[in-house]
Amino acid sequence: MRTFTGKVVFITGGSSGIGAGLAREFAGRGASVALVARRAERLRTVAAEIRAGGGHALAIPGDVTREGDLERAVALTASGLGPIDVVVANAGFGVVGALEALRIDDYRRQFETNVFGVLRTTYATLAELRRSRGTLVILGSVSAYMAAPTASPYAMSKFAVRALAEALRSELAPHGIAVVLITPGFVESEIRLVDNRGHLRADAPDPVPHWLRMPTKRAARQIVRAVARRRRERIITSHAKLAVFLARHTPRLWASLVRRSRVSRREPF
Ligand SMILES: NC(=O)c1ccc[n+]([C@@H]2O[C@H](COP(=O)([O-])OP(=O)(O)OC[C@H]3O[C@@H](n4cnc5c(N)ncnc54)[C@H](OP(=O)(O)O)[C@@H]3O)[C@@H](O)[C@H]2O)c1
Repeated sequence: MRTFTGKVVFITGGSSGIGAGLAREFAGRGASVALVARRAERLRTVAAEIRAGGGHALAIPGDVTREGDLERAVALTASGLGPIDVVVANAGFGVVGALEALRIDDYRRQFETNVFGVLRTTYATLAELRRSRGTLVILGSVSAYMAAPTASPYAMSKFAVRALAEALRSELAPHGIAVVLITPGFVESEIRLVDNRGHLRADAPDPVPHWLRMPTKRAARQIVRAVARRRRERIITSHAKLAVFLARHTPRLWASLVRRSRVSRREPF
């Protein structure tokens, strides 16, 4: 699938960052895209921009933590654009902080979006994917390989979806469904400006220096290429490749580097 002409791509978290970048990239390669996220206005802006460029896009306000929203979004996509070929379970955010500063509810909130949101997306689209022998794309993270201090909820959620991707890859292969795990390092987006309750703090500075962040468009291009080739996994950014390599092959060295770096993630305010 080098071009996506005639294909329908369903993306959760399409109102900003990687999801919006993917919508533009898929649409640029001929796909019709359905975008789901909570902020209706932002979604409509992305969809309108794609339509103005000659593409087909549908903005469907919805929350991946709410029962029924995804089933409704799938029905609207099928009736508005046609049967779904590619599903991108991308919606996510980060709950950060030291264990003692957090409560069980913080972990639950993290899992509701990043883990159960991905599962809800998978259940809601499975019949479509079976029919199209399509592709399920799951957004993991470099945090699915290493759990940095003060980021345990986020890392736990990403370890979980990496496990889901691995299990489903074998489970769904007999149905002709490919599962592609995307493992980004630092990519330009709003994720580090979103607080532990999922609200954007637009004025907060991004704690990751600009030179370390890959431009969204470039990341989206690499992800779409991996989807076209139905690759099992694509690690995005060279620092992420190095970090995953060190975490996998030299876990003690990596742990001591992390400990010594005294990295600490704080909520944006
Ligand atoms: N950027 C990075 O450096 C990086 C690194 C590793 C992994 N990732 C992963 O990449 C994915 C996309 O994140 P991003 O970096 O592009 O961040 P982002 O710019 O903050 O985008 C997150 C998207 O998820 C949506 N979302 C959040 N909660 C939702 C919910 N309950 N229901 C529906 N949509 C929801 C947001 O839209 P609304 O607020 O409008 O709902 C937004 O469109 C995430 O899974 C993230 O963990 C990103």
